[in-house]
Amino acid sequence: MREVVEKVDLAFEVNGDSVRLAVSPDATLAEALRDDLELNGTKTGCEEGECGACSVLLDGKVVNSCLVLALECGGKSVVTIEGLAREGRLHPMQEAFVNHGAIQCGYCSPGMIMTAYALRLENASPTEAEVRRALEGNLCRCTGYRKIIDAVLSLNNGESRHD
Ligand code: FES
Ligand code: FES
Repeated sequence: MREVVEKVDLAFEVNGDSVRLAVSPDATLAEALRDDLELNGTKTGCEEGECGACSVLLDGKVVNSCLVLALECGGKSVVTIEGLAREGRLHPMQEAFVNHGAIQCGYCSPGMIMTAYALRLENASPTEAEVRRALEGNLCRCTGYRKIIDAVLSLNNGESRHD
């Protein structure tokens, strides 16, 4: 006989909206975002904290959402890639990735962009070394990283951050 797992209430904020969900105690934040809220911009790859595809912001800090239990997010604020655009306009970080050809298959892109966005919240003009260090946990199989680094550095030239 299959064991029935009782779901637990979770109240948190996602992309500025208050959200209430019933989640399994072992559900990850990535699962809650993708399966319950249909925010499928957040990708999952390794599900072991190795690839960074699932990166989102939790109370302003970038986390691997595959490693965070949804229930740990009670009362906290989550920002996903869907939360960056404003009034139909891409966030400047998203535009920079597009303009620099930093998106190829695109699978890593939401995680890369969220990690780069988080870096610039703390450091508006990161050096190349700082960008490389911040993106160390985000893997890309397509671009060779150069275009991604260039995209992030391009925002050091005074482009706006509508965050
Ligand atoms: S899916 Fe989360 S780090 Fe790879
Ligand atoms: S663009 Fe394909 S994995 Fe990065």
